[in-house]
Amino acid sequence: MSESIQSLLESVSKENRSFPPTPEFAEKARVRSMEEYEAEYQRSIDDPEAYWAEIASELHWFKPWDRVLNEDEKPFFKWFEGGKTNLAYNCIDRHIENGDRNKAALIWEGEPGDSRVLTYFDLYREVNQFANALKKLGVGKGDRVALYLPMIPELAIATLACARIGAVHTVIFAGFSSNSIRDRVLDCGARCVITADGGWRRGQILNLKSIVDEAVEGVDCIQEVIVVKRGHGDPFPCRIKEGRDHWYHRIVQDQSIHCEPEQLDSEDMLFLLYTSGTTGKPKGIIHTVGGYMVYAYQTTKVVFDMRKEDVYWCTADIGWITGHSYILYGPLQNAASVVMYEGAPNSPDNGRFWDIVEKYGVTIFYTAPTAIRAFMKWGEKWPNAKDLSSLRLLGTVGEPINPEAWIWYHKVIGADRCPIVDTWWQTETGGILLSPLPGATPTKPGSATLPLFGIDAAVLDDEGNEQKAGILAIRKPWPGILRGIYGDPQRFKDTYWCKWNGEYYFPGDGARTDEDDYFWILGRVDDVVNVSGHRIGTAELESVFIEHPSVAESAVIGVAHEIKGQGLVAFITVRENATADEKLEKELKDLVIKSIGKFAVPEKLIFSGDLPKTRSGKIMRRLLRDIAEGKALGNVTTLADPSVVETLRKKYQEQ
Ligand code: WTA
Repeated sequence: MSESIQSLLESVSKENRSFPPTPEFAEKARVRSMEEYEAEYQRSIDDPEAYWAEIASELHWFKPWDRVLNEDEKPFFKWFEGGKTNLAYNCIDRHIENGDRNKAALIWEGEPGDSRVLTYFDLYREVNQFANALKKLGVGKGDRVALYLPMIPELAIATLACARIGAVHTVIFAGFSSNSIRDRVLDCGARCVITADGGWRRGQILNLKSIVDEAVEGVDCIQEVIVVKRGHGDPFPCRIKEGRDHWYHRIVQDQSIHCEPEQLDSEDMLFLLYTSGTTGKPKGIIHTVGGYMVYAYQTTKVVFDMRKEDVYWCTADIGWITGHSYILYGPLQNAASVVMYEGAPNSPDNGRFWDIVEKYGVTIFYTAPTAIRAFMKWGEKWPNAKDLSSLRLLGTVGEPINPEAWIWYHKVIGADRCPIVDTWWQTETGGILLSPLPGATPTKPGSATLPLFGIDAAVLDDEGNEQKAGILAIRKPWPGILRGIYGDPQRFKDTYWCKWNGEYYFPGDGARTDEDDYFWILGRVDDVVNVSGHRIGTAELESVFIEHPSVAESAVIGVAHEIKGQGLVAFITVRENATADEKLEKELKDLVIKSIGKFAVPEKLIFSGDLPKTRSGKIMRRLLRDIAEGKALGNVTTLADPSVVETLRKKYQEQ
């Protein structure tokens, strides 16, 4: 067993409690029992093409596909080849035609307490007007459009407008720095950025427009910057650059409320989403229209047991994949009413989320373990003060959930009544792959349980033999699978398809299975750290530190963190003539903020004379992790200089 799996396994508690779905839930659920799950699962694995064709035909196609799955150029799979469709049409127009014109589509709550409800017909008008405005500026099919917006309705509207006209959206989480925006914009050659003159976060206004100005300065591909008015000119007056910048409200005002949806090919690009990997710069994950659409639709329907009567709230940001698939595309295709909240969970106080649940009668609530651990710390009095009886289903995503947090969520938020779906998936997978089905699967705290329909998952060792503990692998392609890395087909093959001779997709997570064949995700086996559910590449951070003239070398590791799941620790050696002091520490932290964003600043920076290395010069990260987690140190005899660890350990304890 590899060393990384061994160390992941050590952290898993022996959890064996099981929670079957309540009969009340199961009775009304889409999938009502394990027998139903197993029968449908078997059918989906025996004949995936027939299965997915059946699901896809629940949606609208301008032209049906010629072939469900084309594997000829594996791993460059094609789904629903020859089909023509439009995802925005399936999210909006389909429901309008079905008589749901005046049903709430988006229920938006601003941090300061303002709110807006958009019906499906409102959304239709707003999306089409903005789509027409984009077209008038010359933005069209295949153009890349970057969005750097707070969680306001215009973010949803603009994303859907891109999908309607076939422009490729790339949403950049509003916590990223101007350098990160620039990297992404340059990588995909975006022609347009959509931003806002402000956005609320813990009572403060974020100055997004000036961050964008800095990012696109001198970037030739950018022709337009569109600015949504959310701030009030104070404290940041918004500078408008003639010829390049346009106010959103001005360009939409005279546009028609109708815009013909572009009839897109299934394999036309829908969006790019940048995510961190093991090496170098973040990669632009490609998702295409047809397969992603079908997968987001189906997984939302079965995992969240979703109905159009549901008031569904996912607390993620649309800047991450969770927001793409499970705020926008999945729930809207299922005609739900989707709650969207702009701000922080503790603004103005720690009860804000429960206020929102009570205010809108949320029925399905989907959040991350890191948030649940924060709620636990804040105490039961906050949720207990509100009426949460509208809730019927809870979900979690982004990182392994520790059983204590699961139990708390189940009891305090779910009143021992709501099933919990622990959903495992990734930016690359487009949608959920492992999860309980709430009316069927008995859940176990900390386990993402079983594969969804069409997902053939296994736990393997490096050689490809099935094991009880090892590396998670997925055998068959599914419609939502990434289609590539923008501009880098080789990196796509190397990253995901090199292990096990291209026979399996390699997600980079460790896992084990138990006596019921349930999957337990153990965490990443590569150098990606999951901080509060945000993926950060350690190599990415190391390359930031090395830019500083005083830094000779650095090694960044992820360590267990009570609230964030994992935190970052950076070990840094400085150059001979440099001083390792508070000033340097601040400079290095500022450098991370400038290069990536505040959320990537390490918990601890440790300056050290040397780093533990093998005789061949490789940094031994495992030892650094042991030092940081206060564990007994394993074998150090292979080190070039064994005294280095002892010195480091002392230093670490002093901090
Ligand atoms: C981790 C987020 C355990 C995992 C949707 C994966 C999880 C990475 C779970 C993807 C879960 C996500 N249990 N771990 N339920 N969900 N992860 O791309 O390590 O931001 O590889 O997608 O998060 O993160 P990403």
